[in-house]
Amino acid sequence: MSFNTIHLNQDHQLLNQQQEIWIFGYGSLIYKVDFPFIEKAPASIFGWQRRFWQGSHDHRGTPNNPGRVVTLIQSHGDECAGIAYKVTRDVFDHLNYREKNGYFLVEVDIYFDNDLSKRIEPDIAVKGLVYIALKDNDAFLGHAPNEHIAKQIYYSSGPSGLNKDYVYQLAQALRNMGKTDEHVFEIDTLLREFNSQSE
Ligand code: BEZ
Repeated sequence: MSFNTIHLNQDHQLLNQQQEIWIFGYGSLIYKVDFPFIEKAPASIFGWQRRFWQGSHDHRGTPNNPGRVVTLIQSHGDECAGIAYKVTRDVFDHLNYREKNGYFLVEVDIYFDNDLSKRIEPDIAVKGLVYIALKDNDAFLGHAPNEHIAKQIYYSSGPSGLNKDYVYQLAQALRNMGKTDEHVFEIDTLLREFNSQSE
């Protein structure tokens, strides 16, 4: 049900080679910035889509009633918008603990918003890291109809709070950035409908 990735992530090569590293945030890292950073910028990665397909037993759910949080699924031609932070290596001690339930650090090309139009030029991207919960981790829940995903989220909460608040915060943060994510916005809308039905 849970798979502790702290030690595996500590060994990532990029962390051993560079003092300052870009980390791409596409979920709670967009709005919950509880770590020091050197600089930050709106950015995107390509070939990935954000999905509420990872179970959360430790933050937004419990072992008996897991919530759902985002991970990235490979998807040719898709763009995932988020925020990139340049951080010192030691920040990963904190992040690896915070994101220990099934998330692996994966190397990605990060494109800053200002440079998007030039992204055919390979040297415009910077190498960075992103946390991804892969399909083979024990907490992975995978695809389900949006109604099912929203229901599960609606009824889940954990030590970090209500699962639905996680969705609201993420959707609001994306709107504030002027970004669209159909999947996130549809789940956000369904949750608000459930809320109004239960009033
Ligand atoms: C993120 O916001 O990038 C993130 C999402 C899930 C787990 C770890 C980090």
